[in-house]
This record gives sequence, C-alpha cells and structure tokens, in this order.
Amino acid sequence: MKFFIDTANLASIHEAMAMGVLDGVTTNPSLLAAEGRRDTEALLKEICAVVQGPVSGEVIATDATGMIAEGRRLAKLSEHLVVKIPTTLDGLKATRALADDGIAVNATLCFSASQALLVAKAGAAYVSPFVGRLDDVSEEGMDLIEDIVQIYGNYDFDTEVLVASIRHPRHVVQAALLGADVATIPPKVIRQLVAHPLTDRGLDAFLADWRKLQGERS
Ligand code: G3P
Repeated sequence: MKFFIDTANLASIHEAMAMGVLDGVTTNPSLLAAEGRRDTEALLKEICAVVQGPVSGEVIATDATGMIAEGRRLAKLSEHLVVKIPTTLDGLKATRALADDGIAVNATLCFSASQALLVAKAGAAYVSPFVGRLDDVSEEGMDLIEDIVQIYGNYDFDTEVLVASIRHPRHVVQAALLGADVATIPPKVIRQLVAHPLTDRGLDAFLADWRKLQGERS
C-alpha cells in the first residue's frame, strides 16, 4: 500500500520523507489555507519538487469548463501534479476531459459506491472516499472501501482506491487489510502509526539493564 501525507505543510512532508515511508501528498483548499500562503500554486510546485511523487492539488471552479481550464493550468505546474476534482456531475465531465488529455485526476469528496463507479468509468486515476467523514455521520466509512475494492476488482478498473479522511491508525490498518491502493494520512496519524507503549517500555528496560551492567563493571 502506498502512503501519501494529507497536508500542505512542508516541514511535515520533510519529516515523513525522512521516515522513508512517503509516496505522495494530497492537499485540498482547507489544507492550503492552513499554511497561510496566498501563492498556493508556488507552494504546490515546491511540494512536487520535494516529493517527486504524486501531489494532489484541487480545483476551485465548480463548473466543468472552469474545472477543465484550472485542471490544465495546475497540471502544467509539475509532471507530479494530480488534479483533484470534486465528484459532481460537472466533475465527471471535467474528469473525462482531463483524463483524455493524459492528466491524472483524483476524484475527491466521494461518499458512495455509485460515485466511485462513475469516476472510474470517467477515467479518474484515483478515487478518494472520505472514511472519517462517513464515520462522523454514523456510517461505516470502511464498508465503502470494501465495496469499492470489490467493484473495481470485478471489472479490473485501473483507478486506484485512495483512502482519505483518515483519523486514526486503525483506519490505515483496515485500509491495508481491505487491499486499498493508497492511504492519505495526516501527519499526526503517521507519527501515531509507529508509537507503541510496549516498545517504549521494553526499550527503557533494555537500557536500564545495560546501564546496570556498565555500573557493575566500573
Ligand atoms: O484530503 C481530504 C481528506 O483527507 C480530508 O480529511 O479529516 O478533513 O475529513 P478530513
């Protein structure tokens, strides 16, 4: 499974890269706004240069013509730029047009299997089902991942299942168990994935015994 980081924060991206686990980045307008930089396209370009892997940047337009124009402009920023398009009727039209241009599209804000089926048919490179936001409204986000993985497998769709809106390490493990292609993970959850109290406690005990031995020797 590929690991993307769900942030536009360069320090967090560098940190995840240093961990040796990073395959790409996803951003959205809220994550870019959180960085407080108005030059969002310059920031996306910097992220692409650092990561050298797929980096999703989202269009702001909501009509197909606007999305296509914006998507084409964003795609020129870097060969790594993946254009994020909301899963709407206009989004489908834009997805097909951009895919026909050879531009990779990440279909975002996906909340149903029917939406996932449509974006795959329209040529999206990735579908982003938002599991955490489904959990928030008392649905099982992971049930949607299971359905999409099965549907895409039934028909050999090339669209990759990119699990988004991840809130905790269990989401990542469940996504891996279900065979999702990608998990896009917030920086905090990437750090939580490696943490285990028994690892810390075990290491403390090993080092205490080692120090005891050194003390006895001297
Ligand atoms: O990038 C989209 C997605 O991961 C958003 O997550 O936590 O805002 O639902 P969240």
